[in-house]
Amino acid sequence: MIDLSTVIAGVSFPVGLMNASGALCVTQDELEALGKADAGAIVTKSMTPLAREGNPHPRYVAIDGGSINSMGLPNLGYPAYAKLIPELKCFRKPVIASLAGLHPDDFLEGAKALHVAGPDLVEVNLSCPNIPGKPQIGYDFEETEHLLRALRDIFSIPFGVKLPPYFDPIHHQKIADVLERIGVAFVTVINSVGNTLVVDPEKEQVVIKPKGGFGGLGGRIIKPVALANVRAFWKIWGDQIPIIGTGGVENGIDIFEHVLCGASAVQVGTILVEEGVGVFTRLARELTECLERKGYPSLMACRGKLQEME
Ligand code: SIN
Repeated sequence: MIDLSTVIAGVSFPVGLMNASGALCVTQDELEALGKADAGAIVTKSMTPLAREGNPHPRYVAIDGGSINSMGLPNLGYPAYAKLIPELKCFRKPVIASLAGLHPDDFLEGAKALHVAGPDLVEVNLSCPNIPGKPQIGYDFEETEHLLRALRDIFSIPFGVKLPPYFDPIHHQKIADVLERIGVAFVTVINSVGNTLVVDPEKEQVVIKPKGGFGGLGGRIIKPVALANVRAFWKIWGDQIPIIGTGGVENGIDIFEHVLCGASAVQVGTILVEEGVGVFTRLARELTECLERKGYPSLMACRGKLQEME
């Protein structure tokens, strides 16, 4: 039997495969469905101090090769998730709380609420591209360091960060330096590719309503961007800081590619929304078949093994 388990920041995952924050993880019912499914963890929707309806509809559209969304952080708010998280522990798999905010002080308030709720890990979302007027914090290295220093003073739970995609090696190195100084427990790369535009030529119109049609791109079309970010951080850190790969995973071979690039676990977004929680069973089966065919005894045995050309 192939071992699909993984360990991140000392937390054991039965399978290194889970939902990306945002995909079917807002409500209690959705979170419990993840608990019952073959997902290796339960990741909550990114939470803000108060419950939010999010952006106006249509705000998610499946497109050829992926999806575009501008959800605008619809969520139940810190107090509701702080109450739910202890209940989700009954599923005996790690619970990862995704922490967001509209203002730096929000994150600190959320950190205090989560400190009491006790998730296994916290993923600090520095990369939501969909709040009008709010830039993605992860593109501002000083602001990121400032915020994470303040959070570090509050958290006793290991925390990592969810980053936007970076497109230049100097940016990978700069943010890596910040994250090393802070001592984050893991990084999740990548959030959707922010502020992209999909056009419906028949209607001569954008396909989502918020932000004039600009939204985050996800799904198969962003896989090369995601793999490049996983690989770039692996080349900087090796196994020093675990990487959760997110972006473009539709089948078992996609997971294998993320792990070859250096990921210790993989998250799925668009394909989960499209297929529902049964997708985890299919992905685990395909991943097992892929590793068997390749002769790897475990998922971690292939981590970082991507070869470069002479
Ligand atoms: C959203 O709710 O708009 C998506 C969250 C994210 O991209 O971080």
